[in-house]
Amino acid sequence: MINTSQPSDRGCVLVTGASSGIGKATAKRLAVAGYHVFAAARRLEKMTDLQSDRITVLPLDITKEESVRSLVETISTQTERLDVLINNAGYGSHGALEAVSLEEARYQFEVNVFGLMHLTQLILPIMRQQRGGKIINVSSMIGKVSVPMSGWYSASKHVLEALSDALRLEVQQFGIKVVVIEPGAIKTEFNDIAAERVNKASSIDAYQSWTEAWIKVLNSSNQTGAEPEVIAEAITKAVKTKNPRSRYAAPFESKFFLFLKWLLSDRLFDRVVLSEIKKRQKLVSPSISPIAE
Ligand SMILES: NC(=O)c1ccc[n+]([C@@H]2O[C@H](COP(=O)([O-])OP(=O)(O)OC[C@H]3O[C@@H](n4cnc5c(N)ncnc54)[C@H](OP(=O)(O)O)[C@@H]3O)[C@@H](O)[C@H]2O)c1
Repeated sequence: MINTSQPSDRGCVLVTGASSGIGKATAKRLAVAGYHVFAAARRLEKMTDLQSDRITVLPLDITKEESVRSLVETISTQTERLDVLINNAGYGSHGALEAVSLEEARYQFEVNVFGLMHLTQLILPIMRQQRGGKIINVSSMIGKVSVPMSGWYSASKHVLEALSDALRLEVQQFGIKVVVIEPGAIKTEFNDIAAERVNKASSIDAYQSWTEAWIKVLNSSNQTGAEPEVIAEAITKAVKTKNPRSRYAAPFESKFFLFLKWLLSDRLFDRVVLSEIKKRQKLVSPSISPIAE
């Protein structure tokens, strides 16, 4: 049983998707800050560097009900409290809406929405019983804004935003706080996985130039995006703050983009999105501009 009564112990946190990117950076940061972290993902071999006195590595496939249940049972045998759940596991299903298979679209929702909510449903009784806790859902800047070639991913994060708002109101009576994190472009494996998905959905010739353009945009995110530590810092702030805000957007690009969405008409905002995509394409390959004027 993990002892959280030591003065140096701040409490127990579960981070999903801790095998890379934002989740791994967050697990490390929270462990240094004095929390005991349960770090979960499918690829245990990618988490051997995390295992320590402060971090317990556990297997999780968020789409498998048995795996989610087993994770919660294992954690319950190791700690009496779970102070924070960080729902970070996710991926981006990218590609033209006409070309992405419904099977892929369903899987996107299994990971980013249903798996996440199943885990949340199993953690809530623990938090209700202890009369407090925080649930931190990692959404995206495009949980508020839809951009081309990311329709299903964006839809899954819009759903997460809506569920988070409803949950925040439902569970505040139990002292449970719900926070949404809205990252902009971050340098992680996310971009390579998204590019893979775009390639998979490239069967329709009419979208060929957009497919190539979008892969360039994703590649440019690997060059110009922020480091995952920036988001780990925003999450840590939300974890440590007694009364966190309901939303944290980071880095500045995300805040700015969301501000523009609020400010501009759809027509003007569409222009901003297309010009931003062209700019990023040029950053990767100055000579080619597949998105037609
Ligand atoms: N990178 C960005 O630009 C960006 C921007 C906005 C929002 N986000 C969001 O940030 C979160 C973290 O992404 P990241 O950028 O850190 O990407 P990443 O490096 O690809 O990490 C994604 C994590 O999710 C886990 N995961 C994926 N499918 C899973 C499944 N079925 N079961 C359990 N775990 C699963 C992966 O672990 P395994 O494969 O080992 O299971 C991995 O640890 C995601 O929710 C993403 O949508 C990212």
